[in-house]
Amino acid sequence: MNGPAGGPVDGPGDDPLRVWRRLADTAVLLDGFHALKHAVRFGAEVPVAVTADRAAALALADELAPDVRDRFVDLLREIPEETYRTLVPRPHPTAVAALAVRPSRAAQLTALARTPRTTPVVVLDNPRNLGNAGAVIRLAAGFGATGVVTTGTLDPWHPTVVRGGAGLHFATAVERLEVADLPPGPLFALDPEGDDIRGLKLPDDAVLAFGSERSGLSTELRARADHLLSLPMRPQVSSYNLATSVAMTLYHWSMGSF
Ligand SMILES: C[S@@+](CC[C@H](N)C(=O)[O-])C[C@H]1O[C@@H](n2cnc3c(N)ncnc32)[C@H](O)[C@@H]1O
Repeated sequence: MNGPAGGPVDGPGDDPLRVWRRLADTAVLLDGFHALKHAVRFGAEVPVAVTADRAAALALADELAPDVRDRFVDLLREIPEETYRTLVPRPHPTAVAALAVRPSRAAQLTALARTPRTTPVVVLDNPRNLGNAGAVIRLAAGFGATGVVTTGTLDPWHPTVVRGGAGLHFATAVERLEVADLPPGPLFALDPEGDDIRGLKLPDDAVLAFGSERSGLSTELRARADHLLSLPMRPQVSSYNLATSVAMTLYHWSMGSF
């Protein structure tokens, strides 16, 4: 029987470091208590989780996340502090780290293409900033959006994006796609030159597209857009930050929806 990476299934008695080394290249690093908490809550498959202080991590679970405490008891293996430091790029204050199985592209595409859709898909058109992408995935998770699609070269599962997303990649569908392959639904592209968003109720099956931090919406995406919408902004201000634009737009959708 094979495990997530095609190797043997890991058991609770296995050496966590051996499992870590076997999966580290292909799995998603969950860096810190909160990332692991979110991933577990939203059903991530977590073959290995370590901590330099198990008692402290379980005390945090008691205090902040009693719903996942039992899972933490099963999952968390204590390792020496020096060893923990070798596993992560930057030690996290909670000294918790885990590896999760990245959902298959096929599963993510199925979730994104499913109709009828009751919540929007967010599209980031050629985003450049990994922190922005993570913040947007966190927003999409918070608003219950169907997913976040990126176009261009940025990998939305890059470790820095996952860190910014606080483990919430597992609460929504996250994939990279070509503009030509975007999920179905009316495409609303956000641009300072568009019509005022306040005059419009966004439908639940909307595809909400946002431009790159550097150059805004691509020609290709503009050509596909059904509507161009703007967020209110006083004269002489050029634009908002990408993630804050997504926040305002999802909030606007939610006001007409919940
Ligand atoms: C930092 S802005 C891009 C600025 C870029 N220099 C440009 O030429 O558009 C990133 C994205 O946020 C969204 N955005 C920012 N401010 C906006 C506004 N006032 N109305 C609508 N969308 C906005 C747009 O989708 C924009 O492409």
